[in-house]
Amino acid sequence: MPNQTIEVTSSEQSCGATVRGVNLSDELSPDDVARLRELWLQHHVLAFPDQDMSDDDLERFTLYFGSFGHDPFIEPIDGRAHIIAVERRADEKAPVFAETFHTDWSFQVHPPAGTCLYGITIPPSGGDTLFANQHLALEQMPDELRARIEGKSAIHSARLAYAPTGVYGDVDRESGRSMRIIASEEANETQTHPLIMPHPETGKEVVYGCLGYIVGIEDMDDNEAFALLVELHQWQTRDEFVYRHVWEAGMLVMWDNRSVLHAATGGYEGHDRLLHRTTIGAYRP
Ligand SMILES: [Fe+2]
Repeated sequence: MPNQTIEVTSSEQSCGATVRGVNLSDELSPDDVARLRELWLQHHVLAFPDQDMSDDDLERFTLYFGSFGHDPFIEPIDGRAHIIAVERRADEKAPVFAETFHTDWSFQVHPPAGTCLYGITIPPSGGDTLFANQHLALEQMPDELRARIEGKSAIHSARLAYAPTGVYGDVDRESGRSMRIIASEEANETQTHPLIMPHPETGKEVVYGCLGYIVGIEDMDDNEAFALLVELHQWQTRDEFVYRHVWEAGMLVMWDNRSVLHAATGGYEGHDRLLHRTTIGAYRP
């Protein structure tokens, strides 16, 4: 029997729901996991407040939904191969990490299905995460714009972020950033994915990825591709597609990297912030 106490409250925004009545520091039954997967695919972003999770709990929860994804360019926390600290000290001056919309590791051959993020130290205000629902963005896209991306393959790369010349490369090394970022030439590799694709689990069409990790479009001149990607990005991240997530300490959030873009926000200068993150690997039926 599924856990009858699971309570779901929609954000009433473009995506996102809060789930109560399940203790993530306990083992979950297969029925509960199936129910949570269904809710995750329906709402794209699930928030579980009032949890008390150890790193073991976070890893176990992640593995209910797939294998661990591979996290390049960021060194894991001590003693854990699959947990990253998303961290910022109160006095840190480096630009806020991941403040532009993206979907995690979309430059990989098999990008991750999802990401789990657990709030440990959360500032009293600021640091919200924005999620943009890419099913809605596609559904409501003007035909003229859709026609220009239909059948096109996007070229994804980590180079603007994690190459030595990227924003987290050489120029960032002296910034005093607390996150353990390791820029490398490997970031210059590219991988293509269709701009419009069916969600691997629901089959529902989605716009996948955006300018940033997308650095070009196959068989299109770079200038033309850039202009199109800028226009597309403006559409993909319109307010009506965005859910603004407000964090609490002890809250676990899991999102679907195939159906939403996300972006960090700042606004918490003078406060420490720490979250632990895991990556859910690509879906294998
Ligand atoms: Fe991210």
